[in-house]
Amino acid sequence: MATLFDPVHIGDLALPNRVIMAPLTRMRSKQPGNVPTELMAKYYAQRASAGLIISEATQISQQGQGYPGTPGIHSSEQVEGWRLVTNAVHNAGGRIFLQLWHVGRISHRSHQPNGQLPVAPSAIKPAGGTYSADWKQVAFETPRALETHEIPAIVADYARGAQNAKDAGFDGVEVHGANGYLLDQFLQDGANQRTDHYGGSRENRARLLLEVVDAAIAIWGAGRVGVRLSPYGTFNDMKDSDPVSLFTYVLGQLNARGIAYAHIIEPRSSAAGAQDGNIAGAPEAAKLFRQAFSGSLISAGGYDREDALKVVADGYADAVAFGRLFISNPDLPERLKAGAGLNEYNRATFYGGADKGYTDYPVMGQS
Ligand SMILES: Cc1cc2nc3c(=O)[nH]c(=O)nc-3n(C[C@H](O)[C@H](O)[C@H](O)COP(=O)(O)O)c2cc1C
Repeated sequence: MATLFDPVHIGDLALPNRVIMAPLTRMRSKQPGNVPTELMAKYYAQRASAGLIISEATQISQQGQGYPGTPGIHSSEQVEGWRLVTNAVHNAGGRIFLQLWHVGRISHRSHQPNGQLPVAPSAIKPAGGTYSADWKQVAFETPRALETHEIPAIVADYARGAQNAKDAGFDGVEVHGANGYLLDQFLQDGANQRTDHYGGSRENRARLLLEVVDAAIAIWGAGRVGVRLSPYGTFNDMKDSDPVSLFTYVLGQLNARGIAYAHIIEPRSSAAGAQDGNIAGAPEAAKLFRQAFSGSLISAGGYDREDALKVVADGYADAVAFGRLFISNPDLPERLKAGAGLNEYNRATFYGGADKGYTDYPVMGQS
């Protein structure tokens, strides 16, 4: 029976363990230009004992940015910055994928080229708000619906991001299809009311995600492309009238492409960004969608040690991604293996700032 601490092959990669570092936005890139820094390289290298690190969500274009300080992968300066990160992680013995991101309607004019409105599948305003380029809380506005003829350029932006990630020395890419950002907005009918061939049926709503995945595969090969999905996720005002049918179809399509892994977020963790502690409840999504996908499955969302051991032992997931616990425990795999105590995370330092709450969490024996 597999345990969390056994090696595993995921796509083309041989991972030494199944404790994955979840993608975590930390908003500490260098300004102007959203460029990764030496401090970011240090933070990721500290966490290199993860079976696999998935980078923080990284915008593929200026239009794809929705928060201040998030790094990009569309300029040569950003590629150079990311090379600091990949070199540091590899020198520390780790592996790292880049998460490709376009936020769609989860943005604000201050992040957009020429102060334009954010774009989305349909002109539907999400509830809530974000931070402007100068870190002020701002409400979302009604986005502009993308014209059909604009969509190929967005796929091309993803392809450029995937190629830039390769040039920057990553081991692969994860397509961010979760948490209410652009690709998820296209997937779910609560945000997609289009009448062209990117809206309507589940096949049409999945088209953009699959075009992006195919573009990434053309650059990387299927064995180095993962996809993150959040069926039932309500974060960023998401909903769908029939998530089982939609995500069963999407996973079937991903299966046929032989991608490295599907990364599924449990709905119980929708509020993980705003809530502390383990979130009780069975791993419904991993259990439900395991049948739909025969490749490697990474499960995320509200896991503690016990639940993670169990989901792997039960065969519902091949590996488990940890978010908040990896923020405060750089040596999380070693701590989990030893059954050691864990550092508590400080929510106040999740987003923005410098080394405090970022690179200063102690490893075992130091605390
Ligand atoms: C500070 C913070 C930043 C996050 N940033 C991202 C992100 O960039 N991309 C993403 O897919 N999920 C992101 N998430 C969601 C996490 O990857 C993860 O799914 C969530 O925290 C639940 O896992 P946990 O209970 O282990 O923390 C973020 C969560 C937190 C708390």
